[in-house]
Amino acid sequence: MNRCCAKLFVLAVTTLLALAVTTASANPVLQALLEEYQLIGAGPFSSKAGQMLWSHEVNGRSCTSCHSASARAGGKHNRTGKTIKPMAPSAYAQRMTDRKKTEKWFLRNCRWTFSRECTPQEKGDLLSWLNQQ
Ligand code: HEC
Repeated sequence: MNRCCAKLFVLAVTTLLALAVTTASANPVLQALLEEYQLIGAGPFSSKAGQMLWSHEVNGRSCTSCHSASARAGGKHNRTGKTIKPMAPSAYAQRMTDRKKTEKWFLRNCRWTFSRECTPQEKGDLLSWLNQQ
């Protein structure tokens, strides 16, 4: 390879790598949700707190009753037995890509699990943790 083409080759590889990194971390819906929660006073978010909440048990119920303790593993609905895809975007890219769906399930699942809604702080913590898995 002569000098001109070697340079082009390096440029192409660098561009591809940059693209791959951006694609892996960019989830505009998830980022927008975090910003939305911050606008109403939540944050900074802690993925550690998110992980603790994920396995926090109230009256024998926790998020892991249906999802797995590991967000990268699939889950199983504790009543219907239906399988649930992994919750981490790194394991299932469609996670948290539809704002309405994410908020709907947060509402429903927090109510079922904790008998109350999750706060914007808790949802931000949970999303931060899920996004880092
Ligand atoms: C009774 C079973 C059950 C429990 C307990 C449960 N979930 Fe879920 N969850 C589901 C089902 C079913 C779906 C929808 C199916 C899917 O998206 O794969 C879902 C979807 C979600 C979604 C939507 C993800 C997306 O793609 O946008 C979020 C967020 C979520 N759950 C968070 C939680 C949190 C946080 C807890 C604990 C407070 C929890 N879930 C507890 C069953 C459950």
